[in-house]
Amino acid sequence: MESLISLVNKIQRACTALGDHGENTALPTLWDSLPAIAVVGGQSSGKSSVLESVVGKDFLPRGSGIVTRRPLVLQLHKIEEGSREYAEFLHLPRKKFTDFAAVRKEIADETDRETGRTKQISSVPIHLSIYSPNVVNLTLIDLPGLTKVAVEGQPDSIVQEIENMVRSYIEKPNCIILAISPANQDLATSDAIKISREVDPTGERTFGVLTKIDLMDKGTDAVDILEGKSYRLKYPWVGVVNRSQADINKNVDMIAARRREREYFNSTPEYKHLAPRMGSEHLAKMLSKHLENVIKSKIPGIQSLINKTIAELEIELNRLGKPIAVDAGGKLYTIMEICRLCDSNYKERLDGVRSGGEK
Ligand code: GDP
Ligand code: NA
Ligand code: MG
Repeated sequence: MESLISLVNKIQRACTALGDHGENTALPTLWDSLPAIAVVGGQSSGKSSVLESVVGKDFLPRGSGIVTRRPLVLQLHKIEEGSREYAEFLHLPRKKFTDFAAVRKEIADETDRETGRTKQISSVPIHLSIYSPNVVNLTLIDLPGLTKVAVEGQPDSIVQEIENMVRSYIEKPNCIILAISPANQDLATSDAIKISREVDPTGERTFGVLTKIDLMDKGTDAVDILEGKSYRLKYPWVGVVNRSQADINKNVDMIAARRREREYFNSTPEYKHLAPRMGSEHLAKMLSKHLENVIKSKIPGIQSLINKTIAELEIELNRLGKPIAVDAGGKLYTIMEICRLCDSNYKERLDGVRSGGEK
């Protein structure tokens, strides 16, 4: 099943490579039909922290205010135990990053290349793949934080622009929403819950994550929320304790942070009974399982879309004629080859599933 998810990751990348250049409309349709998980919430609600702890790696630019100014499409690929982990950007093919501080810098630089060194935002995504023995196969999308007011250097329209951009990602029926709400703010004012409810009223594809549980006022706790009594979601809420700014400044590493998070839930009397389904690691497993189920249920639909896409690309290629000298033709050809590759692997997989050979 894991390789089926990584196959889906490959197809998604092929789709965006072409979609970015706008040469064919068939592939973006395919992209739209594949599941991905988007992280939404207010500014500084803990989105980047949650993403990092799901991944188990420090790699995102962080800071107060608006840091994430372009969507980041992050694909996690599990590789063999003992292999060296590395990252790769779609805009820098064949360059392997093993230094995750350099990854963070490249995300910031690539954001600036598109938006200028301003506080402007852009809806053009950055694509990053991380290959590691310590991840589960997932595609995650980090989105700029929802905000209520423009800051110095931003046009007033930015509030609406961010909301529209976020909505354009999460309104797709195949987008799984990770709605991030901080526990030290009233849930009723949660931007994440508000926009998720809007695009997914039945909560079919929304996972509620409660951050900053450690920062709640003394004498209050999040038990009612975590038990689904305050705001009921279809899937159970997951509470997390990420690193504080002080922890980040002190370079507390991810392993230590996860250990401390586990201890927090196990040793806090209010949360002890909920401990097995709390924390970042539980969240990562839950998401991976959910994604598998979604992909399984979509196999027939994805198959027919791939077939349709290949047929359309062949027509396009014929129209352009061979040999293909123009850039557009070259790109089309590459994408078509990727799709073909995906397609044959895919059929094998499909046969495996049908004969009950898959877990
Ligand atoms: P984003 O703007 O939504 O991406 O939020 P960040 O992940 O950058 O977090 C904003 C700030 O809140 C950072 O200083 C984090 O260290 C801090 N933070 C996030 N989650 C938690 C948490 O669960 N507990 C504590 N104490 N601090 C947190
Ligand atoms: Na922030
Ligand atoms: Mg962020």
